[in-house]
Amino acid sequence: MFQSAALAGSKSEQYAELADQARGLLHGERDRVANAANLSALVFHALPQLNWVGFYFYDGKELVVGPFQGHPACVRIALGKGVCGTAAVSKRTQRIADVDAFPGHIPCDSASRSELVVPLFDARGALVGVFDLDSPVLERFDADDQQGLEQIAAIFVESLQ
Ligand code: SME
Repeated sequence: MFQSAALAGSKSEQYAELADQARGLLHGERDRVANAANLSALVFHALPQLNWVGFYFYDGKELVVGPFQGHPACVRIALGKGVCGTAAVSKRTQRIADVDAFPGHIPCDSASRSELVVPLFDARGALVGVFDLDSPVLERFDADDQQGLEQIAAIFVESLQ
């Protein structure tokens, strides 16, 4: 059985530990839904001040909600729309300090105040989807969170190969 230990140390040490736990959790499994589900649960319970953690997958036309932890969410997001669609089109992580200040933000959970969305691309550069985290706290995500969560997203994409 997988055991996730409480994170300790500096923030970068905590993300290094979380990355190790993610690698262990996904080791030997390539199924996209299984790995997205387990990774959502790992991150949701490991990190404080989050109200939604999960995945949207690109179906060839738009983003469709995948495994997540949190309240029920919007099912489909068009490319270029919201924080998620913007991350997918811009190919850049969107770190939003205040979702109310982001034009076009799609409010799935009214509790969300800040958000971080990492776009996911496979080894050939094709869009897989996005990894989305919401917080009820303004400015929840700093540059260290972004770096740590981009690494978690990379571990997910690598697990699919
Ligand atoms: N807020 C996102 C929509 C997804 S929910 O946060 C789960 C957006 O603007 O794309």
